[in-house]
Amino acid sequence: MKKIVIILCALVLVVSCKSTNIQNNKKAKTIGVLVDSAMVVSAREEASKIGVAILKKGGNAFDAMIATELALAVAYPFAGNIGGGGFMVYRTNDGKTGALDYREKAPLAASKNMYLNENGDIIFQKSTLGAMAIGVPGTVDGLFKVYEKFGTLPFSDLIQPAIDLAYKGVIITEKQADRIKKYQPYFSKANDTTILYEANWKANDTIKYIQLAKSLERIRDNGRDSFYKGKTAELLVNYIQKLGGIITKEDLEKYEAKWRKPIEFTYKDLKIISMSPPSSGGICNAQILKAIEPFNIAEFGHNSLKSIQLITEAERRAYADRSFYLGDPDFVKIPIDTLISSKYIQQRMANFSWKKATTSSTLKHGKIIGYESDETTHYSIVDSFGNSISATTTLNGAYGSKVFVSEAGFFLNNEMDDFSAKSGTPNMFGLIGAEANAIAPEKRMLSSMTPTIVEKNNQFYMSVGSPGGSTIITSVMQTILNVYEFGFGMQEAVNLPRFHHQWLPDFITMEPKGFTPKLIKNLEKKGYKIQQENTTIIGKVDAILRLPNGKLEGGADYRGDDTAIGF
Ligand code: DON
Repeated sequence: MKKIVIILCALVLVVSCKSTNIQNNKKAKTIGVLVDSAMVVSAREEASKIGVAILKKGGNAFDAMIATELALAVAYPFAGNIGGGGFMVYRTNDGKTGALDYREKAPLAASKNMYLNENGDIIFQKSTLGAMAIGVPGTVDGLFKVYEKFGTLPFSDLIQPAIDLAYKGVIITEKQADRIKKYQPYFSKANDTTILYEANWKANDTIKYIQLAKSLERIRDNGRDSFYKGKTAELLVNYIQKLGGIITKEDLEKYEAKWRKPIEFTYKDLKIISMSPPSSGGICNAQILKAIEPFNIAEFGHNSLKSIQLITEAERRAYADRSFYLGDPDFVKIPIDTLISSKYIQQRMANFSWKKATTSSTLKHGKIIGYESDETTHYSIVDSFGNSISATTTLNGAYGSKVFVSEAGFFLNNEMDDFSAKSGTPNMFGLIGAEANAIAPEKRMLSSMTPTIVEKNNQFYMSVGSPGGSTIITSVMQTILNVYEFGFGMQEAVNLPRFHHQWLPDFITMEPKGFTPKLIKNLEKKGYKIQQENTTIIGKVDAILRLPNGKLEGGADYRGDDTAIGF
C-alpha cells in the first residue's frame, strides 16, 4: 500500500512538473530586437548595418533603402541584386503612401510562345536557366527613382558603403556555403566560362567582389545611365547575346521603373497598404483577409483546425482569381475594385463549409459581370522621422538565371518564368496563369511579392514582407494575423510555423515542424490533402512592429541569416 502511495505521489509530481513546463513555455515570450526610433531588418547583417549607418548619419528611410538594397546586392547575391527587380511600398511621416514598381520587363523580342517547342510543349528549363530566362533588370532605375523623389544625402554616400564592402569582401555563412555548393552544377550549365562562385567556397571564407565594386563605382560616377546605356550595359548585352539571349541595348535604354498606386484596404481597424499589379500580393491579401474578416478568428486559436480551414478556403479562392485576372496593368484591364470588395468576396465564400474542404477542381475564378478581359529578399526600414518602407527584391530563382556577367560582377534574373509560358501549365512555383499573364514584348510578369505596411489608428503599425515565390502572400498575411489577431510579438509572429494553399495544386503545404499529427489527421478527415515532405521552410519574413509604448520591435526570420539592427 505504502509503495502504491509513493508511486502515485511521484506520478502526480511528474505530471505537475510537466504541466508547469508547458505553461512556462507558453508564457516564455520571444522578443525581437527592441529600439527607440529607427530600424533596418534585412537578410544580412552587413546590409542591415549599412542601412542603419545611413539612418544614423541623418538619412531618411529612402536613403537607407538605397544603401541597403545595394549592400544586399553585394552581401546576398542569392537574391540581392542589380540584375533583377522588385517592389517597394512606403508611408511617409505625414501619412502619404505610395508604391514603386521596379519589376523586370520582357525584352522587345519576346513572344507569347517563346518557351514552347513545335508541339506546343514547354521546353525544359528555358524560362528558368540561362540567357533566355532573363527579364530586363529594373533595380538600378528603381533606386534612382526613389532617390529623385525622396533622397536627402548625396547619392555617393548611399552607394559607397556597398562599394567598400565589395572590395573588402563578405564572409560566407554556413547557409550561403551550402547554397553555393547546391547550385554550382547549374552555374556551369548557364555560363560559357568558369564563374567566381565555382571555386570551392566554404563557410567563413571571404569573397571579394572586385568587378561588382567597379560596376557600382560606374553607377556612383555616371548615374543610372552607366547601367542602362554605358559600359555595364555593353558588358551585359554582349554576354547575354553571346549565350544566345535576346536582350538588346534598346531594351535596357527603354527600361523605366514606375510609381504605382498601392492597394489599400481595411481589415477590422487596420489599414493595409500593399503592392499593386504587376504584383498579385496586395489584391490576393485583400481577398484573403476580407474573407476572414467576418469571423472571430482569434477565438478559433492560432493554427487551430478552424483557423487553418478558414484561411485555406480564403487562399484557395484568391489564388484561383489570381491565375485568371491578374497581370501587368499596363497590358490588361484588372477589375481591382470588384476583386477586393467585401460583397464580391462574400459571394466567393458563400459555398465555404466547416464540414468539408472545397475541392479546387470544382472551383474556378469568380465571375465578374461587365468586365472585359482581354529567390527574393525582403527588407523593412523605419527611420526616426517616422517614414517607413517595405521592399522586396529578387532575381526570382536562387541566383536567378545563373548567368553571371563576370566582367561586371553580378547575376541576372530568371524572372521570365513568372509569366504564364503556357496557359494552364504551372511555373516553378506551381502557379498557373492565363491570358492576363501571357508573355508580350515590354510586359511585366506577374509577381507574388508583397511588401506591405500596416497602419493602426492612423499611425504606422507594421512593415512586413517575405521571399518565397507563391508563398510570399500567405506568409505576409499570417504574420499580420499572428500579431493582430493572436497577440504575438513581432519576432514570435515571424518564428511561428506557417502553412500555405494556392488553389492548385490542391494541397496545404505545411512547415515540417509545429503542426501536430492530430491536427493533420483532423484536416485530412475534412478532405484536405497535406504536403509536408518536400517543405523545408515557407517564406522568410522580415518585419518591424511599432509597440504601444512607441518602441520598435524587429522580427528577423531565423529561417535565414536575417538581422534586425536599430537605435
Ligand atoms: O515575383 C515573384 O513572385 C517571384 N519571382 C519571387 C521569387 C521568390 O520569392 C524566390 N524566393 N524564394
